[in-house]
Amino acid sequence: MSLTVPTPHINAQKGDFAKTVLMPGDPLRAKYIAETYLENVKQVTSVRNVLGFTGTYKGKEVSVMASGMGIPSISIYSYELFEGYGVENIIRVGTAGAMNKDLKIGDIVVGMGACTNSAVIKESGLKGFAPIADYNLLHTLCLVAEKHETKVKVGNLFSSDLFYGSGEDFVQKWSSVGTLAVEMEAAGLYLNAAKLGKKALAICTISDSLVTGEATTSEQRQTSFNEMMILALETAISL
Ligand code: HPA
Repeated sequence: MSLTVPTPHINAQKGDFAKTVLMPGDPLRAKYIAETYLENVKQVTSVRNVLGFTGTYKGKEVSVMASGMGIPSISIYSYELFEGYGVENIIRVGTAGAMNKDLKIGDIVVGMGACTNSAVIKESGLKGFAPIADYNLLHTLCLVAEKHETKVKVGNLFSSDLFYGSGEDFVQKWSSVGTLAVEMEAAGLYLNAAKLGKKALAICTISDSLVTGEATTSEQRQTSFNEMMILALETAISL
C-alpha cells in the first residue's frame, strides 16, 4: 500500500474498511444501504459528505462507501481505498441508462467490460486498453444470481464522461455493437483495479431507457435496487 492514512479524501483509520466495498454513487444511498442491510454499522468516513460505513452482513464484514458521480470521482475514491486501506474488491452498485431495446426499467445489467470516451485511459499511457471486470467477481455474481433466480444481463457497459449532450448517433452507434447501457463510472474503476492488481465489478439497475425514453418510477426503483443489493451482498460475502 503506497498511501498513508487518513488519505486526502477519506478520514477513516487503518483497518476501518472490510476487504470488499460496495460503491453506490450517492452518499445517502450508501447510508441507506448500511442502515437497511448491514448490522453493527459504524460510519468510518465523512469527508465532503461522501459517506462510508462498515458493518456485517450474515456475520461477515462488508463496507459501503459512495463514489460520487463520474470517472474522476470514482477514480479518486477507489484509488484511496485500494492503496490506502488495503481494500481488495470494489463492487459498484449503480444505475444505468439502457441502450438495448430489450432492456426494461429495473432490469439488472452487469459490466463484463466497460467502453469509455474518458481521457483516463489515454492519460494513463494505455491507449487501446480494454477495461474489464474481474472474472472471479463476475463468475461469483452470476452463480449467486442463478441461485436466487434473479435475471441479470451480462455484457458491455459504456462509461461516459457526459450525462448530457452525447451526440445524436451515440445510442445507435454503441448499441449496434451490443453495448447494453450507459453509466459514468465502471471504466475508471476497472482501470484502477487493473493498475493496482485489485478486483472490481459494476452492477447497475436500469433507471431509464435511451431507446424508449422511459424513466423509473420510485416503486420500480426500490424493487430492482433491492434485488441488485442482495446479489452484491451475497457476492461480497462469498469472496
Ligand atoms: N447516462 C449516463 N449515466 C446514467 C444514465 C444515462 O442516461 N442513466 C443512469 N446513469
